[in-house]
Amino acid sequence: MDLFGADNKVEQRIKQLTQEVLHHNKLYHTHDEPEISDAEYDQLFHELKSLEEEFPHLKQANSPTDQVGAAVKNTFKSVPHNVPMLSLGNCFNEEDVQDFVKRIGRFLNSGQLPELVAEPKIDGVSCSIRYEKGLLVQALTRGDGKVGEDITANVKTIKSIPHFLHKTANVPDVVEVRGEIYMRDDDFEKLNEAQAQNSGKIFANSRNATAGSVRQLDPKVVASRPLKFFAYALGDKSIDFQNHFDELSAMNEWGFEVVEEVAVLKDVASIMEHYYALQQKRPALGYPIDGIVYKVNDIALQKRLGFVAKAPRWATAHKFPAEQVTTVLNDIEIQVGRTGVVTPVAKLKPVAVGGVRVSNATLHNEDYIIERDIRIGDTVFVERAGDVIPKVVKVVESKRPAVTEKYNFPKNCPSCDHSLLREEGEAAFKCVNHTACPAQQREQMVHVVSKNVFDIDGLGPKQIDLFLKEGFIEDWADIFVLKDHRDALLNLKGFKEKSVDNILTAIETAKDITLPRFIAALGMHMVGTQVATLLAERFGDFESFKQAAIHQPDQLVDIDGIGEVIAQNIHQTFQHEDSLKLIEKVLRFGVMPKPYQPPKGQDGFFAGKTVVLTGTLSTLGRSEAKEKLAQQGAKVSSSVSSKTDFLIAGEAAGSKLKKAKDLGVHVLTEQEMIAQLL
Ligand code: IVH
Repeated sequence: MDLFGADNKVEQRIKQLTQEVLHHNKLYHTHDEPEISDAEYDQLFHELKSLEEEFPHLKQANSPTDQVGAAVKNTFKSVPHNVPMLSLGNCFNEEDVQDFVKRIGRFLNSGQLPELVAEPKIDGVSCSIRYEKGLLVQALTRGDGKVGEDITANVKTIKSIPHFLHKTANVPDVVEVRGEIYMRDDDFEKLNEAQAQNSGKIFANSRNATAGSVRQLDPKVVASRPLKFFAYALGDKSIDFQNHFDELSAMNEWGFEVVEEVAVLKDVASIMEHYYALQQKRPALGYPIDGIVYKVNDIALQKRLGFVAKAPRWATAHKFPAEQVTTVLNDIEIQVGRTGVVTPVAKLKPVAVGGVRVSNATLHNEDYIIERDIRIGDTVFVERAGDVIPKVVKVVESKRPAVTEKYNFPKNCPSCDHSLLREEGEAAFKCVNHTACPAQQREQMVHVVSKNVFDIDGLGPKQIDLFLKEGFIEDWADIFVLKDHRDALLNLKGFKEKSVDNILTAIETAKDITLPRFIAALGMHMVGTQVATLLAERFGDFESFKQAAIHQPDQLVDIDGIGEVIAQNIHQTFQHEDSLKLIEKVLRFGVMPKPYQPPKGQDGFFAGKTVVLTGTLSTLGRSEAKEKLAQQGAKVSSSVSSKTDFLIAGEAAGSKLKKAKDLGVHVLTEQEMIAQLL
């Protein structure tokens, strides 16, 4: 084997990785403008680190693996940390966690794992805030871990950071509270929306937005950014605690928001269980986390365990799979939805995001593409959080190919070629050729057979596409006479007598449909099962509803929960000759919407009564209370009028309570309501 040659190759690779990691460090820390996702960065960093470990003599003098975080920028004053701000080692799987636990056991010479505290790893910018005699005197970024940047003026604009520690029994002379400055997911989305509209910088993720905000030179700009802070550690301090959990409690008493979802764990099995549970919860938290940090709870043990290189031996970070990656945008496809709304969809070079292979992502609408100047051929950041549809967040401008063109949104429907319409004040283009556009008809058919509507077992998008291709169906009414094609169906590949008959029976059974489901089946914009139920309650049978929809749209607006826009949508649908014909055809083919029957349980206290909830409920959640009342047959309304039977007044009830009293409406407390619900 040519050892010399192999060494040479490794050296080349190490040099290349060193350059690349240094380059990305600079983009990330100095410009807050990364070109690759965190996961891709981690990969480069780890490859470099393991090569350096295997071939120490080839390590470069300026290796980025020796540096913690960012080189300090000179726009802010550089200040050394009294106690260094270290980083954490990473675990990516159960084996890594086992290793972490074993290392602790070996070091302490104990078979018993000491108690661990698990905290979410907040994905923001870390900061150390110093208080002397309870007064905020200085706030520093982590910088390179030894020297930070003085961002005191900026930090003082963050509302969740107290300028004075709340007076408690143990306010110390000196204490540094450490934690993460971050942005909530909804605040980040709003900020990016505003940036897009003002042609400002679009941030790839909330951590970049936070970093960019924290380093603004004008504190007024910082104040306008929706920054928040979670505390999770202490730095320099003149006070000692027995364990980490007590530190968290103390910071909370001093007036900080402390990391939530904290758990105390005793073994690897419970660590893994907690890890998967929090991963499930991750999208619903409302703020960005990229893993879990495990910390030995006992501070005396933390001191014994100490540090290896730049990370503590007593703590580690267990990373979640990345939710953001970069890939190439190969094409933009226009999809036409059931109601004619068209959505641009990114066709991507397939890539794994958050553990799932992704090749499509939404681009929302025309403005979204224009504001971000997204072009076919671009390298883009793609994000996927939980069950949410993946989306293209932004372009990596430095990777744009030499020749590209600005994207022109099509003027015509890709399915029926009808011209697309974008109404004043609307973000979306629409194909208004509702009854004749093949794409809309196909989506409408998929909707009709779906669970919440006709719920026809054995019929889904695949079968619909096939039957369309074979010419068995042209509009959704035809589904109800599929039995006329029984022989042809039996000739299709994969269709046996039993499966065909099952489908045909399911169709026959489904014809007997409740009124709310039938109204929802019509597929009108913004009329789902909930709105359809309100309509069914009000009109009782389909003919009465139809008459009102055609001739008296005012009656629709009178219903609590139905506004002008929905009423207009319904009215317009029923003005359409083609829509009316199609509905007639469906009825002719044997579909029979049953007159509305209120749900069972009508003998309860609230049955048939109109109830309004106000104030804060302390025992039941508001939606839970609404659901329970509705189950008893109550109509839950949002405003008090002379028709109201009961007002349920929670804590701090205001104007509605006054109005109810003025009108002589019966007022019940939450407990009185619960007593009647049981
Ligand atoms: S403890 C010595 N706890 O993760 C222990 N860090 O890679 C120091 N982070 O610089 C950190 N959430 O920016 C700790 N609950 C948490 C954290 C957390 C986020 C960040 C922090 C730190 C980095 C380590």
